[in-house]
Formats: sequence, C-alpha cells, structure tokens
Amino acid sequence: MALTERFEIADKTEQNDLQLDRHGRLRHLLTLQGLDRQLITALLDEAETYLSGDGEPVVRGDALAGRTVANLFFEPSTRTRASFDLAGRRLGADVLNLDVNTSSRKKGESILDTIYTLQAMHIDIFVVRDAQNGVPAYIAKHASDHVSILNAGESDVSHPTQGLLDLLTIRLHKGGFEGLTVAIVGDIAHSRVARSAAEGLVTMGVGDLRLISPASLAPEAGSVPPQARIMHDLDEGMRGADVVMALRIQRERITNLEGIPGVDEYFAHFGVSSERMKLAAADAIVMHPGPMNRGIEIESKLADSPCSVITEQVRNGVAVRMAVLASVIRTLGAQ
Ligand code: NCD
Repeated sequence: MALTERFEIADKTEQNDLQLDRHGRLRHLLTLQGLDRQLITALLDEAETYLSGDGEPVVRGDALAGRTVANLFFEPSTRTRASFDLAGRRLGADVLNLDVNTSSRKKGESILDTIYTLQAMHIDIFVVRDAQNGVPAYIAKHASDHVSILNAGESDVSHPTQGLLDLLTIRLHKGGFEGLTVAIVGDIAHSRVARSAAEGLVTMGVGDLRLISPASLAPEAGSVPPQARIMHDLDEGMRGADVVMALRIQRERITNLEGIPGVDEYFAHFGVSSERMKLAAADAIVMHPGPMNRGIEIESKLADSPCSVITEQVRNGVAVRMAVLASVIRTLGAQ
C-alpha cells in the first residue's frame, strides 16, 4: 500500500478552474462535475468516431504521435488500465505502465516527487488512480504547465472516464437522455462509478435517475446530485427503467461490515436478475462497470443475456479514452 500523504483537497470550483483552460477547453480531466452538456457531447461525438461500423474500436489515429502517456495506478485495475494503455497506443503514443508494487512511492516517496521524476522524462499525460480523495486535482495543481492529468478513479469520489463510457453506451442504445429512466443499483455509498454516472446523466438531462441500495449503503447527503432519487426497494426502483446499472459492493472501502447484508440476502433483495428485469421497460439494457461478482449484485445468466451491454461498455471505454487523450493533447498544443 502507498503511504498516506496529507494534502489539501480542491473544492468543485477549484477543480473546474483547473480542468478547463480560459477558453473552456479540457486541460485535465478530474471530474464530470461542472463539465457542461456541450463539452460532454463533443467528447462522446469524438469517441464515436473511434468506433468502426461493426462496433470494434480498431480505428487508429496519430493525435498522440511523439507523446508519452504514463499510467500510474495505485489501486488495482483491469479494464481502466488496459483501456488507457490501448487508447494511448492506438493514437500513436508511447505508453509507460508504472509498476506500483516496485515504484518508489512504496518506499515513502511522495506522489509529487514521483510525478516530478517522471515529468523529467517528458511525460505528457499522467493517468492516475488512487485510493485517496483529492489526488488527481492535487497533482494537476502542482504539475508543470506542459502536462495533463486524467483521473482514472479517485477513492469513492469520481471516475470520470467511466462516467463518459457509460453515457456513450446509453446514448448508442437509447439515442439520448431526455425522458430516460435510469436505475443504478448496489453500493452507492462507496461507488465512484455511481457518482460520475449520476453527475453526467443529470448534466445530459436524464428524466428520472434512481439510486437504489440497502439503507446501509445509501449515499451520504450531498454526495450525489440532488436530482437523483434515493430508493431502497429494488422492485420499485426497476419498474419502467430503460437502463439498469448494477454495482459491486466495494468491500475494500468498507471499514465496518455491520449492517451490510450477507451474500444470499443481498442477492435476494438487491440482485439484478432476469426475473426483476420483467419490471423494467421491454427494451431495457443492463450495465455493469466490472469487475462483476456474479450471483451477488447480478445474476450470472442476465450478465450474458442479449439485454446486457457489459462488453460493449468495455469496448466503448477504449474509444472514450482515445477522445479524452486527443482532447487534452489539443488543449496542450494550443497553450
Ligand atoms: C470500477 C472502479 O474501479 O471504480 N471498475 C472500473 O473502473 N471499471 C468499479 C469497481 O471496482 O467495482
């Protein structure tokens, strides 16, 4: 585990001042909060250009030729890390995947010293995942003017590229967001995925956003957009839903498991199943950010059924990350 460092946490306004340049262009990607509909739409549109007709993201480009991207994942990751790696390579970048288990941060080096060391090797973009709240903004504030920071998962606070890939997946299936009912189900309290999805969906004008969890895993007041409905009954929450997103219980972030239902009880009350999907709209889709715990938050056969878009989410993730990488590089080039 990396040593815990103490640093100031940027508030929402400060984060936005950091992530957009004075022309409103994306300079870093720290959070979806404060990104407007136009900017999000432009990112989704660009991501779509990286998806070829048959749905495979094999389109390549040279927007990052001669650039270097460093993936710094101080928390486990399969999808996000592989996806940033491929996205960078498909745009012609050199990609450095730092092995955090052998990195000097383990020896007590501060995150900033790690960044300054890598900056000296001419890294252009740092992709950062960390268990501590505030790390991406803190780095963005102290890094050189020539680099860009992308948040690849910040504690339980935000996961903006996951939010964007969820938005893209929904838009591809539903054509837009207005009038849609979206049910996000599971451990909302500890989910950065739920928070970023909720922020993005509200900005895009979703009709009815439902966050459904056991009472013990409900979000803290003020940690999700006020437009979201907090619910505790899954049958009620799934009724008429166009999109159902299941989430894993984030046990690594839960210090006291008291009040958290056991596996069987959890599935009985909060498992997204084929039976419960009958309550949703006839053409509803099922999403999951992964990693999935089959038989706990989602029924295994439902995850593999035709209404599941889980593998499409993964595919769309590469395209979204290509769009984000290309956008920040354009901003850097225009400075
Ligand atoms: C999620 C994460 O790391 O926040 N996974 C992902 O990035 N696709 C969700 C999770 O770990 O449950």
